[in-house]
Amino acid sequence: MACHRSAGDASELRHTYGDWAKSIHAVKGVGCEHCHGGNAAKADKAGAHAGMLDSSDPKSPVYYTRVPETCGRCHAGELAAFKESRHFLELSTTGKGPNCITCHGAMANHILDPQTMAMTCTLCHRRPTQAFGALLSLNHAAGSTRRLKRAVAAARAKGVEASAQERELASVTRLVEASLVHWHTFRMPEVLSSSQEAARRAITALNELKLKGMSEGEAK
Ligand code: HEC
Ligand code: HEC
Ligand code: HEC
Ligand code: HEC
Repeated sequence: MACHRSAGDASELRHTYGDWAKSIHAVKGVGCEHCHGGNAAKADKAGAHAGMLDSSDPKSPVYYTRVPETCGRCHAGELAAFKESRHFLELSTTGKGPNCITCHGAMANHILDPQTMAMTCTLCHRRPTQAFGALLSLNHAAGSTRRLKRAVAAARAKGVEASAQERELASVTRLVEASLVHWHTFRMPEVLSSSQEAARRAITALNELKLKGMSEGEAK
């Protein structure tokens, strides 16, 4: 890091030091060596780069088709779901499917909103309509779950009985998280139905809290 911080943003580098520094990975302490190999304990170039291979080398952990396994060391659920997808099949047979960084960028420093996602998909597909709907629905489910979480906290603070809604919150949160992982199978109808179920249940619990006198204002 001491070297790359000031190494400049040479255009042939696919991601810059700044991209990493701004990313969730930097925040969570995932250093260069976790994806690239090398030896982070050495301060000289040769020592630090020992055993490290350029991403154009098929043996490199950041080679196009090997990226999923590298990311999957920490994102096991996404990797397992991704392996069930046509994308993985294409990637491992023809080398033409997307890998994790096609969609997330090497640093995963942005969450894909539906618009950005649609642009990414249309690199290869004509119309990601179904996926667009599924992601909107997932975002909606995540938003409703956050509202329910605030309402449950407000109820607790006011001493209003809300244990059923609290259990529902835990269960719906798990469902949303599982849907985000399951997304990577790219079986969109399944993702759509699980996220719709999550949203419906979150909103039902939210309405139950409103009936207990929690106003929308307090629920926000
Ligand atoms: C989350 C994984 C990840 C982390 C962490 C990471 N990189 Fe990368 N890096 C990649 C990937 C994947 C590529 C392949 C290029 C591409 O397609 O974007 C790459 C490419 C590069 C390249 C261009 C050379 C090549 O092999 O393609 C350099 C230089 C580089 N990274 C330096 C760094 C430095 C320095 C750090 C730490 C400050 C770092 N990287 C952290 C994943 C990572
Ligand atoms: C050494 C472990 C490690 C590796 C390797 C790794 N990640 Fe992560 N990643 C994390 C951690 C830790 C987080 C923070 C969120 C969490 O705790 O799950 C994270 C978060 C993310 C997020 C969520 C971003 C957000 O803003 O919430 C995405 C997307 C992601 N990683 C994609 C990738 C991709 C793509 C690769 C491979 C190029 C990769 N990760 C490699 C550990 C890792
Ligand atoms: C074809 C595009 C695509 C591919 C390939 C892909 N993802 Fe995703 N991923 C998405 C979208 C879209 C989302 C949901 C929106 C978001 O959270 O960015 C997502 C969500 C995630 C999240 C959860 C982020 C959060 O909000 O908590 C992680 C972690 C993640 N992906 C990791 C991976 C890993 C690891 C791989 C490779 C094994 C991968 N993704 C491959 C598109 C993709
Ligand atoms: C790098 C190219 C590429 C990108 C980018 C890409 N795909 Fe694909 N996708 C493919 C290929 C190749 C196939 C397999 C052949 C086919 O069905 O067209 C495929 C298949 C699919 C399928 C069919 C899955 C099945 O089980 O039949 C879905 C759904 C899909 N992609 C969704 C997406 C979504 C959503 C995005 C954006 C987040 C995306 N793709 C981005 C290349 C890509």
